[in-house]
Amino acid sequence: MTSKKRILSAIQPTGDMHFGNYFGAVQNWVRLQEQYDCVYGVVDYHAMSMPYNPKKLRENTWSILFNLIAVGVDVDNLFIQSLVPEHAELSWIFNCFCSYGQLSRMTQFKDKSQQSKEKATDAFISAGLFGYPVLQAADILIYRADYVPVGKDQEQHLELTRNIAERFNKQVGKDYFVLPETLYTEVPKVMSTADPARKMSKSAGEKHHINVFADEARIRKQIKSAVTDTGQATEGMSAGVENLFSLLGASGKKEAYEYLRTCYQNGTLKYSELKAEVAEGLVGLSAVFKDRKAAIEQDKKNIKNQIKASSAQIRKRAQETVKEVKELTGLANVRF
Ligand code: TRP
Repeated sequence: MTSKKRILSAIQPTGDMHFGNYFGAVQNWVRLQEQYDCVYGVVDYHAMSMPYNPKKLRENTWSILFNLIAVGVDVDNLFIQSLVPEHAELSWIFNCFCSYGQLSRMTQFKDKSQQSKEKATDAFISAGLFGYPVLQAADILIYRADYVPVGKDQEQHLELTRNIAERFNKQVGKDYFVLPETLYTEVPKVMSTADPARKMSKSAGEKHHINVFADEARIRKQIKSAVTDTGQATEGMSAGVENLFSLLGASGKKEAYEYLRTCYQNGTLKYSELKAEVAEGLVGLSAVFKDRKAAIEQDKKNIKNQIKASSAQIRKRAQETVKEVKELTGLANVRF
């Protein structure tokens, strides 16, 4: 048996995947699989914490799974959160090991409830949104994960997860849960090519994100029209040019990157050349993804069954934890 360290991460179901998602998180998931025992969830329970559409939720759950597999995540490492209902069970138990005060200080809760309040319709703040971080703690601790690869915005949730684990361990008088650490990895910050002052994101509109499965012509066009200079005087490299360099580096075009960096320093950089290389890099990656995606589309039923099977396999680990937790917390336990 190998004793690889365990990694847990999760993503909310969204239908599309753009290069911001890919370079910012998913590419890292793919790489981590080489070194660690990885468990990656699509968290559909979490997606219910804000107003949502049930049909879309299920569609998005499957489509993000297909997309993750197409870009290189191993199906055996993937699970659907609601196919492991022990997450919800453990979340309840953790609610009782987590203070109301600490939850009310969560910045994500404050931001999202504020966003809800500002909406003219659907101004509804669910208790699920309040308890969101507790469910996240359950996602992580249920697999006794050592590391959680997430961005800075999730640090507060990780801190809460450790607090819950500590309180639990203290109360039951046993060092049962591992205290998980955040795994920081250098990931490029991908900005919108149409407005390099904002992050690449789907919600900002068509121009502001490049789908990893987009047609070649579309990718080329979006890069061609990328903003380089805004006309405003900037010190050093403009945000648009910097973003193009990030994309070039992230797409693995090391030589072109080095060469064009030198051109920039010499003052001989042609934006058209930089753009052509970036487009080449993205189109190259996208071609591989699209091939795999097409194969998945041909074989949907089988892939769905594989995801169900891997969820069932991963569920066994979760059940083991919940069984032990029930033992430790004085709950009735009929699973022998
Ligand atoms: N809250 C995370 C996000 O918004 C998603 C998430 C849910 C998660 N459960 C998790 C991330 C467990 C890491 C580990 O991105």
